[in-house]
Amino acid sequence: MSDDPKLQHLRNRKVSTRLGGGPDRIAAQHQKGKLTARERLDLLLDKGSFHEIDPFVVHRTHDFGLEKQKFPGDSVVTGWGTIDGRLVYVFSQDFTVFGGSLGEVHAQKICKILDQALKNGAPVVGLNDSGGARIQEGVVSLAGYAEIFLRNTLASGVIPQISAILGPCAGGAVYSPALTDFVFMVRGTSNMFVTGPDVVKAVTHEQVSANDLGGADVHAEKSGVCHITSESEADAMFLIRKMLGYLPQNNMEDPPFLPNGDDPLRTDETLDTIIPEDPGKPYDVKEVIRRVVDSGQLYEIQEAFAQNIVIGFARLGGHSVGLVANQPQVLAGVLDIDASEKAARFVRFCDSFNLPVVTLVDVPGFMPGTLQEHGGIIRSGAKLLHAYCEATVPKVTIVLRKAYGGAYIVMSSKHLRGDVNLAWPSAEIAVMGPEGAVSIIFRKEMEASEDPVQRKVILTNEYREKFANPYVAAERGYLDDIIEPSETRPRLINALEMLKNKRDSNPSKKHGNIPL
Ligand code: HXC
Repeated sequence: MSDDPKLQHLRNRKVSTRLGGGPDRIAAQHQKGKLTARERLDLLLDKGSFHEIDPFVVHRTHDFGLEKQKFPGDSVVTGWGTIDGRLVYVFSQDFTVFGGSLGEVHAQKICKILDQALKNGAPVVGLNDSGGARIQEGVVSLAGYAEIFLRNTLASGVIPQISAILGPCAGGAVYSPALTDFVFMVRGTSNMFVTGPDVVKAVTHEQVSANDLGGADVHAEKSGVCHITSESEADAMFLIRKMLGYLPQNNMEDPPFLPNGDDPLRTDETLDTIIPEDPGKPYDVKEVIRRVVDSGQLYEIQEAFAQNIVIGFARLGGHSVGLVANQPQVLAGVLDIDASEKAARFVRFCDSFNLPVVTLVDVPGFMPGTLQEHGGIIRSGAKLLHAYCEATVPKVTIVLRKAYGGAYIVMSSKHLRGDVNLAWPSAEIAVMGPEGAVSIIFRKEMEASEDPVQRKVILTNEYREKFANPYVAAERGYLDDIIEPSETRPRLINALEMLKNKRDSNPSKKHGNIPL
């Protein structure tokens, strides 16, 4: 190694750029159960692949004594590296420097990354751990956030954007992660809120802890803001790597093809009897998914939110797909506000990034009630409708059991440009369920009957036989075929293979007006 003084000087300065806020603050970070910005990048990226940029950048603020505290690189580490050999841009906020707060140069560093990612067509992963806007920099910090939000928005649908929340994320800062495609959180150490517990107490007199207000579980179960929850930061980094394995680098690429040992022609007889005899009985649709997809692997998203619908990534014959499935085990698989929005956003993600959408249908309808109506189920249901209608990726649908009313239409029916629509023999497709239908159309007849209860049973059975089956829809061509459940995997893989060169488009427009 040359001992040229200039090189020595560079080496010394480089070392100083890696110290963050110093050993005490690093120890404090560890004591809180958190890793440092660089330790996180080491876990996220392929070994030795990280290329840092802007390590010498320092803030330019002269107020509040900040001019005496300068840390090379400021409070964020940025650059690029690889995950499974594929390029990815990263930023990792450094809480050991000014609490990871975002000032002018911190924002500029992130914007540089976002600009490069967009130009070069590679995903961005942002690791967030910050006290928010750097208070000493005032409006300049706000401007910095705005510049980031703008870039998040412009990059949306062009490159995958992933956010991990690994500490505090408060105030307007939450809106950058919220604009990205997927938000990861870690139990116990991360939280997100627009206004913190103190402001909540002052304004609404509610007493609530940071965790109860905006911890990982709250956002995973109640708000739906968090897509993936982890027990540890290492687990979160692992799951981000895994997710990227399903995704293309950008909207111009196909998702990665990963052949595996699972036979595309594999059939599964268990599926022939998985639907209970009694149409009112639940079963676990995830079991159906696991029996159909490659190696039984479902990468589930928003697992704890709106559990009446299941969404996630999987592979079929080595190709990535997005799966949407009603879950009869929760609220009978009904579509409500949360389930509609969860599925709608996911379908739009898949459509943006060329992932075929496979839909498994078992839905009794939309959730009735004032809570849902007043909460805007009309708007939310319309979002799902809009998402499926506008999607031009291959759309393959299988009706497993119930497909009633508007929910039949919404769940990727033939009428919404479904490419291949299949059903199991257990499918029931009609305007509404037999009991409801009979109560309406035979009300007078039942009232006039000597034994209305018995009459209702007879009429319900007649209705079920006539309409609650897949054959009426198949006779019309609304279903392309009725299949034996055991053949589901080979039939899906075959359909996707047939559709692999599908090209479809929407009328030219600036953008649609999805009912938000
Ligand atoms: C400047 C900050 C800071 C901030 C923390 N620090 N937040 N410096 N601007 N926003 C500094 C602290 O002064 C401290 O410095 C160091 O970071 C570590 O912070 P601690 O408070 O010791 O850490 P901890 O106890 O873990 O608490 C973390 C925290 C708390 C919960 C984030 O620091 C906090 O409440 N910070 C303020 C959060 C906030 O109100 N931000 C503005 C939100 S509004 P020293 O040198 O003393 O150790 C916002 C608007 C964005 O962000 C709008 C975008 C459109």
